[in-house]
Amino acid sequence: MELIKKTYSAQETKQLAYQLGRSIQQGILITLQGDLGSGKTTFTQGLAKGLDIEKTVNSPTFTISKIYHGRLNLIHIDAYRLQGLHQDLGFDEFFDPQWVCVVEWPQYIDEILPKNRIDVRILRIDELSREFVFACDQSLATVLEGIA
Ligand SMILES: Nc1ncnc2c1ncn2[C@@H]1O[C@H](COP(=O)(O)OP(=O)(O)O)[C@@H](O)[C@H]1O
Ligand SMILES: [Mg+2]
Repeated sequence: MELIKKTYSAQETKQLAYQLGRSIQQGILITLQGDLGSGKTTFTQGLAKGLDIEKTVNSPTFTISKIYHGRLNLIHIDAYRLQGLHQDLGFDEFFDPQWVCVVEWPQYIDEILPKNRIDVRILRIDELSREFVFACDQSLATVLEGIA
């Protein structure tokens, strides 16, 4: 299933992600692909609000992963600095029913990512406009219906 959404401000992106956070359950993996500045972290901030996480999510670039606790627990992974590293990263435990997992730069750790997931591609149209292309298996289609 594929769903395309446009937003016209960072706030709208957060709102879209918030709605997704409201409709997901734990055990879900969401990958966010898009250039630097496209809105991956902004999206994750809105998603975290939808999980009733109170702490502000910021870019985990220097720590690779960060954990947040809320109604559902979130692990936010930024794989940017893992490019070309083919080793056991110890993330397996996070791709399990206890976590909502968000991965920025998933293309760099593609070989270890489970296939059952929601892929989001973000395109920067102009300064304030972004296009979000959501894609997932039929088994997760109801989740996307929550933001359609
Ligand atoms: N429609 C929009 N959606 C998301 N971010 C937007 C939008 N319009 C402008 N922005 C700005 O673009 C930047 C996105 O940064 P960030 O979320 O850190 O990107 P990334 O994590 O992809 O590098 C922020 O400064 C945000 O305010
Ligand atoms: Mg980021």
